[in-house]
Amino acid sequence: MALKKLPGLIDVHVHLREPGATQKEDFYTGSRAAVKGGITFMIDMPNNPTPTISIERLDEKVELSKKGLCDIRFHFGTNGKNLDELPKAAARPEVFGLKIYCNHTTGEMLIDDPVLLQGVYSSWPVGKPILVHAEGEQLAQAITLATTHGQRLHVCHITQASEVEMVRDAKKNGLSISAGVCPHHLYMTGEARERLKGFAVMKPPLGTPEDKAALWAGLADGTIDMVETDHAPHTRAEKEQENPSFGVTGLETSFSLMWKAVQDGLITEERLIEVMYSAAKKIFNIPEQEDTYIEVDSEATWVVGEGGYETKANSSPFEGMELPGKVMTVVIRGKKVVEDGSIVG
Ligand code: DOR
Ligand code: ZN
Repeated sequence: MALKKLPGLIDVHVHLREPGATQKEDFYTGSRAAVKGGITFMIDMPNNPTPTISIERLDEKVELSKKGLCDIRFHFGTNGKNLDELPKAAARPEVFGLKIYCNHTTGEMLIDDPVLLQGVYSSWPVGKPILVHAEGEQLAQAITLATTHGQRLHVCHITQASEVEMVRDAKKNGLSISAGVCPHHLYMTGEARERLKGFAVMKPPLGTPEDKAALWAGLADGTIDMVETDHAPHTRAEKEQENPSFGVTGLETSFSLMWKAVQDGLITEERLIEVMYSAAKKIFNIPEQEDTYIEVDSEATWVVGEGGYETKANSSPFEGMELPGKVMTVVIRGKKVVEDGSIVG
């Protein structure tokens, strides 16, 4: 055993489904999946069946999330019509950003009316980032809006080579912009759909081999700032049906997939810590978790799915893959949550 001590990892993009879709996940099971994967702090998205677009809904989530084994915080949501709530939400310490959906996906939160978008960008107090689900043309529009309104912009789950170029240019032009990439987009391309069927269906969809190469290059050169899982659990039935629900799980596999990238020489170990911890901490102004760390067995390997899953979704697009790096210990504020690879907290 070769134990390596690392900081508790951060994931700024997860869908924990509570309230409203707890057949897919809840705060407790989602947090079990997180700590199993070495994540001690995560930020939940607002696209619940009843979206997190009011302070009342936010308060409800804050209460429900207290059963989590790790720290769970929130991104606020908008339908373009809750402008009065935005400054109130931005002032809350549990809120780390505002999520805008500029493309269709799970939930009913798409905003494509430019007038509504203008309202949102002008009503969100400058400071905490605006996060966008914005593919292709929508990303170009988001960059323009963020520039006009002096907002910090975080590009969620960047997928296409052209989007990496847009972020690179925006950074050169001095815009306060960051980008996150998902392990599934780093490791898979559209071809995986033949093999994995519904388990390879998500938004944004898997890209081309050229897109994938651009993502790795962007992650290595700093254009892409962080890894975010977009952990989006759905039941197996929902993934196996004719029109599969969008989204794949990610919390239990992200560290090992990135550790594999270190072993394969795609990124350095220092870069792994940046993209899974320090960058998120800095960009989202995440407070220090005192006396919090993880220990990984850097030489051990494990097979995805072999010991079951913690996520209620009970699946992974990486099922059957042998991965290096096993999370053996998780300590959060001095309290052991994972010991010898098993959840104890
Ligand atoms: O694949 C996805 N699933 N992409 C999203 O943007 C939303 C997510 C979900 O909530 O299911
Ligand atoms: Zn998402």
